[in-house]
Amino acid sequence: MKKLKRKDRTRAKVSKKFNWKTHHDELAWFKGEKINAAYNAVTRHALSDHANKPALYWENDRGKAKTLTFSELEKLSNKFANVLKKLQIKKGERVFIFLPKVPETYISFLGILKTGAIAGTLFQAFGYAALEDRLKNSGAKYLITSSELVGRVDKVKKNLPKLKKIILIDKIKVKKNEISYSKEMAKASDEFKVKPMKPEDPAFMLYTSGTTGKPKGVIHKHGAILQQHLTAKKVLDLKENDIYWCTADPGWVTGIAYGILGNWSNGVSSLVYEGKFSPDKWYSLIKKYKVKVWYTAPTAIRMLMRSGVKLPKKYNLKSLRYLCSVGEPLNPEAIRWGRKAFGLSFHDTWWQTETGAICIANQPTLKMKVGSMGKPFLGVKAAVLNDKGKEVLNHAGDLVLKPGWPSMMKEIWRNEKKYKSYFKKGWYYSGDKALQDQEGYFWFIGRADDIIKTRGERVGPFEVESALIEHPGIAEAAVIGKPDALLGEIIKAFVVLAKDYKPSKNFTEEIKKFVKKRLAGHAYPKEIEIRKDLPKTRSGKIVRRFLKAQELGLTMGDTSTLEKE
Ligand code: PRX
Repeated sequence: MKKLKRKDRTRAKVSKKFNWKTHHDELAWFKGEKINAAYNAVTRHALSDHANKPALYWENDRGKAKTLTFSELEKLSNKFANVLKKLQIKKGERVFIFLPKVPETYISFLGILKTGAIAGTLFQAFGYAALEDRLKNSGAKYLITSSELVGRVDKVKKNLPKLKKIILIDKIKVKKNEISYSKEMAKASDEFKVKPMKPEDPAFMLYTSGTTGKPKGVIHKHGAILQQHLTAKKVLDLKENDIYWCTADPGWVTGIAYGILGNWSNGVSSLVYEGKFSPDKWYSLIKKYKVKVWYTAPTAIRMLMRSGVKLPKKYNLKSLRYLCSVGEPLNPEAIRWGRKAFGLSFHDTWWQTETGAICIANQPTLKMKVGSMGKPFLGVKAAVLNDKGKEVLNHAGDLVLKPGWPSMMKEIWRNEKKYKSYFKKGWYYSGDKALQDQEGYFWFIGRADDIIKTRGERVGPFEVESALIEHPGIAEAAVIGKPDALLGEIIKAFVVLAKDYKPSKNFTEEIKKFVKKRLAGHAYPKEIEIRKDLPKTRSGKIVRRFLKAQELGLTMGDTSTLEKE
């Protein structure tokens, strides 16, 4: 290895000595090593001189705005916890949130954790079939949603016998099996004794897509807040008086780990914007709230790039101090553009729904290599392994982590086999391909499987294919991610029509709508190609890799197992 520079030598020393346990004091613990993530995120600040400090600055694109202090957020989440208590919620039962980024999302999430129940979040763009899969698999007992979204749940409610009640945030008069949020909140006490939990106890769950089968419920523990807290502080560089903006939705892991838990655990005032993306709006929010730390995603950065470097100069964005990115490869071009537009570099961070918190990053203490994801966070051991499971440098291989980081998923809900499939010979396999260079920096190469990343959101091809073949005109379907300059990837579908089916002129549009309604507004195929047949292995499995290679004009690789066409 090359001689280390002074900064790196210090890092190496700190890293060697690092022990998660020595950082336990940064959190509030109950007797007997018990903890509650919501207590750490809100209660302890509400009980301190931070009580009247804004925790949440919220506004939407329809002119509404609200500020909640730590004390107000504490009281409201206590009230929600009491609403659930009245409904006799028990530890470990699932309560799901299907809402846009409204204050009630944050209030209810914290309230659920306070009771010891498990909070599940559902992205607002989900269609009825996606909701049914997730609510059914989790056995959710209560769901909190709005009158705008509830129709999609009503459609599948008959298939959800475990779902007892739906809590509506914007209705006073409700139907049987519904509860009015405002009515119950008005009656509930704002005092609640937060439930002490074991660090290993589940706190929240998120469904994530693999390449086969239905989405899987990733379970995260209360104790994960240790890593969320430390990375928010040391990777996102959050300081007590910062105004921080995480643009992610709590329907996804970033919006929870760094939009609720890690940021508030550090007592930092956080901005939430509920509304459509527009460069003007985003810059005006940074200016208005004097945002200092900004955590966003490459697709958003590329969308801002499209509106040029002059536009941000029109706004006073001098408050910005630190910029970070997550979810997809951060193009060097985006970093260079950020430097021109804001005089600052976007710092890449790598992690996954399953890892629960940032694991590899361009940290403030590290010299940045543009295009690299940086180095593992203190206390996280990462490596790249070759096909034989040997650690390699300067060679592409599997990106793996040594289990033991505090925010590692606890389990896959009711699917031990799937959980076990992540681990081999003492390593956690991320499913990503990467390269580690001589100096210990990690470089992202791609996915080892067929998972698609569109707008930074993870989409499993199987879910899209299943929705496609529900259509009476489609007999077979295969879906791939096709590189796209703006969105990272778009979803492309190859379909074989049902026998004697005559597609209409609007076939493509019809199919897009069909998938959007069932699955999600963000996970539909932008391109659809009709084929006579699809490439399959001799055992009849469709080979997406083959279609992708064809689409990209690459060599096909080994085709010996493919069926003769
Ligand atoms: O392929 C990697 C990509 O996103 C995947 C995880 O997606 P998800 O579970 O939705 O979590 C996203 C937010 C934590 C990874 O397996 N990914 C994430 N961060 C990066 C990335 N790819 C390249 N560079 C990154 N910084």
